[in-house]
This record gives sequence, structure tokens and C-alpha cells, in this order.
Amino acid sequence: MKKLGLYIHIPFCDKICNYCDFTAFQGANSKIKEYVEALKKEIELKGNKDFLIDSIFIGGGTPSFIDGKYIFDILEKLRENFTVLDNIEITIETNSKTFDEKKLEYYKRAKINRLSIGVQSFNDKILKELGRNHNSKEALESIELVKKFGFDINLDLIFGYQSQTIEDILYDLEIVKK
Ligand SMILES: C[S@@+](CC[C@H](N)C(=O)[O-])C[C@H]1O[C@@H](n2cnc3c(N)ncnc32)[C@H](O)[C@@H]1O
Ligand code: SF4
Repeated sequence: MKKLGLYIHIPFCDKICNYCDFTAFQGANSKIKEYVEALKKEIELKGNKDFLIDSIFIGGGTPSFIDGKYIFDILEKLRENFTVLDNIEITIETNSKTFDEKKLEYYKRAKINRLSIGVQSFNDKILKELGRNHNSKEALESIELVKKFGFDINLDLIFGYQSQTIEDILYDLEIVKK
């Protein structure tokens, strides 16, 4: 059997940030259902029980922007069509304003065990310059919510954007440590 790590791309966002180079679309909500259907069809077409999936990363875009049920269905489809090992790392990328308890419950049911939260900075001035859809308080609140659910957590921070200084990144790292 061949081992395989899978990356699933969800190219939708609440708001496109000023610095982003990823394939992501804002205001394309009417395409989400169609995209998920196409993804599930592709999983069926490429599916092979001889492949042993040992990690899954659902990235974007912002996967947490779409309905939690869609994420659940995509993972079900993977389990039907590949051999997905138990207790593997399954990660989903999120940003603060796009998930709530209901979505986190869907992720738990889908056996997602790691959330990557796009924070970028805890400095509101920088967040504004980056064109983010949340402030630092909202980022901290969302981290608390994720902690309550017991997921492993990754935080994305950005360094090097125009006005950012060494002091700014040290401040961000202090907050992470706390
Ligand atoms: C695809 S995004 C997914 C996370 C989520 N959409 C969010 O932004 O909160 C993954 C990470 O890539 C980083 N990123 C995006 N554009 C970048 C760029 N042009 N250069 C370096 N890092 C970038 C950000 O830190 C972002 O959190
Ligand atoms: S939310 Fe994430 S994926 Fe979307 S534009 Fe911003 S950095 Fe890029």
C-alpha cells in the first residue's frame, strides 16, 4: 500500500487581504456548493483504497468560511474512497471571523484535530494595513474558543509587511507565549 498525504484547497474568503498570493475569491459564495460537488466527484474519480492516507490538510483560501457540513461531507467522501488511517493529523485553516461553535462541532465530528488560525498580528494598526477582517481582540476570542474544544492549534503570524518592525514581531510572540 502506498502512503499519501492529501491537501484539499478551498478557495473562498470573506475578504481578500492586501498581501495575499493564494488562489482565493471574495464574493463567490454562489460557487461554493458547485465547487464542493466537483471536489467530491474528483475524490470519487481519483479514489483508490490501496492508498493509505496518513495526513490531511484542508487549506485555502479560508476553509472555515464555508458551511461546516461541507467540510464534514468532504472528509466522509475521502474515507469512502481512500484508506484513511485512524488518529492521523487532520488540519483545517481558519480565520477568526469565519467560525463559530457549530462549525467547530462539525470539525470534531469529522475527526479534524488541528486548527490553523490565521492571526498575522496582534497589532490592530497592522491588521488594518494588511486588510484583515478581524481585530486582535476577535483573534484572541477565537483562540479561546478553539482551546475550549481541545484542538491542537497553529497560529500564522506575518512578519516583513511594510511598516512592521522587530518590536512588532516580538510583541506578537509575547502574546503567543502568554
Ligand atoms: C492560505 S492562508 C490561510 C489562512 C486564512 N485564510 C487566513 O488568512 O486567516 C495561510 C497563510 O499564508 C500566509 N500568507 C498569505 N499570503 C502571503 C504572502 N503573500 N506572503 C507570505 N505569507 C502569506 C498568511 O500568514 C496566512 O495565514
Ligand atoms: S483570508 Fe487568508 S487566504 Fe484569504 S486573502 Fe486573506 S490571507 Fe489570503
